[in-house]
Formats: sequence, C-alpha cells, structure tokens
Amino acid sequence: MKKTALIIAGNWKMNLTLGESNELVKQLLQGLPKLNGVQVIVAPPFTALQAAALELKGSSMELAAQDLHWEKPGAFTGAIAGEQLADIGCRYVLIGHSERRQYFGETNSIVGKKIQAAFRVGLKPIVCVGETVQERESQKTFSVIQTQIQQAFVSLRSKQIEELFIAYEPIWAIGTGKVASPEMAQEVHQFIRDQIKTSKTPILYGGSVNPENARGLFAQPDIDGALVGGASLKAQSFLSIIGSAISVLKENG
Ligand code: 13P
Repeated sequence: MKKTALIIAGNWKMNLTLGESNELVKQLLQGLPKLNGVQVIVAPPFTALQAAALELKGSSMELAAQDLHWEKPGAFTGAIAGEQLADIGCRYVLIGHSERRQYFGETNSIVGKKIQAAFRVGLKPIVCVGETVQERESQKTFSVIQTQIQQAFVSLRSKQIEELFIAYEPIWAIGTGKVASPEMAQEVHQFIRDQIKTSKTPILYGGSVNPENARGLFAQPDIDGALVGGASLKAQSFLSIIGSAISVLKENG
C-alpha cells in the first residue's frame, strides 16, 4: 500500500526551561520545510506548554501534552485535567508512556481511563505500549503488547480506536541508543495492526530514533512515523528526521 502520510512527534520529557523551550520552538518553526504530508507534533513540559501554544498558532506544527489526569477538574493536587490542556490549545496527549508506567505506577486500566478522559475533551490520545528487555528475551513481546492493548482499549468503540495513535516503544530501546531494527519494529507493528483490526490507526515507533536510522524505519509498511525523545531536543536532529520522512513519502508517492 502506498504511504501518504507520516507523523513525527517529539517528546521532550522532563527537559528544558521555559526559555530553552521557546528557543527550540522558534528554531523548529524557522527550519521547518514544506511538510508535504508529514505531520509534526511536539510535546514540551507542562511549564512551557502555553507559551508553545501561542507560538505555534497558525503554524504547521501541533502541540501535545505528555500526560493528563483522568478526572474532570477538581481536588487533585498537582494533577492536570484534559479540559485545562484543551483550553490552552493542545490537540494531542501522550498516554501510558513506559516512564509513566515504570515510575508512576500507571496500569493498563489507568491508561484506559486517561484515553476516555482525552476523548471527553477532544484531545487525540497517543497511546504508548512496549515490552521490557526481559519480556523480549523470554519471548513474551506479543503477549505483553496484546494485554496492554486489550486492557487499555476494553471500553473503547471501534470508531474511537481509529481516532487515536499508538506508539510502539520497546523499553530496551528508549534512551539506550539501541534502536529496534526496521524488521523487528515492523513485526510488532504488524502484530498491533492485527490486534486492532483497522488500518486507519497510525502506529508510530519510538526508541532511539535518530537522523541516521529514521529513514529505514519509515520505509516499513506498518510504521507510520516516530515518537522521538532525545533527538527531538535539538532542532537540527529533529528537523533532519522530519526531512527523512518527507523524502520517504516523496519516494513512495
Ligand atoms: P529516545 O528517543 O530518547 O530513545 O526516547 C524515546 C521515547 O521515549 C519517546 O517517547
């Protein structure tokens, strides 16, 4: 099947001061080429979201938050509601990132509640799944991912599954420089595609994506883009990954 779109999302995690974030947004906007079917999303930390929203207004780059709480606004000290994110101009929200699962005790059922909360306020969820190195080595990759998807999506209608993005991020590849080979990633993406029974949901790959390996990943049939961590913190490397996506689409088109 011909590829007509790719999505490149940058997850800035718990990095950058307000000034640094503003500077990065400015550099990205200055360097952004004509996107020709590539969609670009950035997820700054909460402290820089509103400033980024103002800067991105009317541009071709879109805004994501890195997390949300599942409840409506109320007495939940320290948390941020979807309503508050939508209010400042976020369109997307990362949900169930492995760092949230690992360090903040997020379960598949919490991920499910957060997906519902995002839909309630019109935010598009980018739902992250992925296995640990131990799970991969003991041949549990597929069963782990199947459980993550089944439990988190249990109360979703099929139309809603088509409206979200999935990011496959093998935990052993995050921040380690050990990217999954394009074939390895493709195998899991195809498995996810079979699980969700639709070709409409974009499935992004995340884990040590950089300007050198991006093109090989984007050439795979079921890899619809990337969720980039470290390499999204420098304008030059993020723009170069965007450039790879543009040229893969051009070659495919
Ligand atoms: P790295 O690109 O730094 O490996 O991070 C990937 C990631 O976790 C994106 O959400």
